[in-house]
Amino acid sequence: MTDRAAQPATIEACPNGPLLVRGDVQLVDGDGTPLERRRRTVALCRCGASAIAPFCDGSHKAIRFVAP
Ligand code: FES
Repeated sequence: MTDRAAQPATIEACPNGPLLVRGDVQLVDGDGTPLERRRRTVALCRCGASAIAPFCDGSHKAIRFVAP
């Protein structure tokens, strides 16, 4: 990762959309296996409809997800 990856992690909940994760954080699956991170900002699905979970694929728009 680049210099930006060394920044403190932030998590931003998009209105009716994914969680945007930025900064120095390692993502792992349910077994603790690291997930490949290809971008500085990672969008994690919170609607449950993504075909590429745990990442957001934009499906929240199609299902008109409304965040609690
Ligand atoms: S939040 Fe985007 S697909 Fe679920």
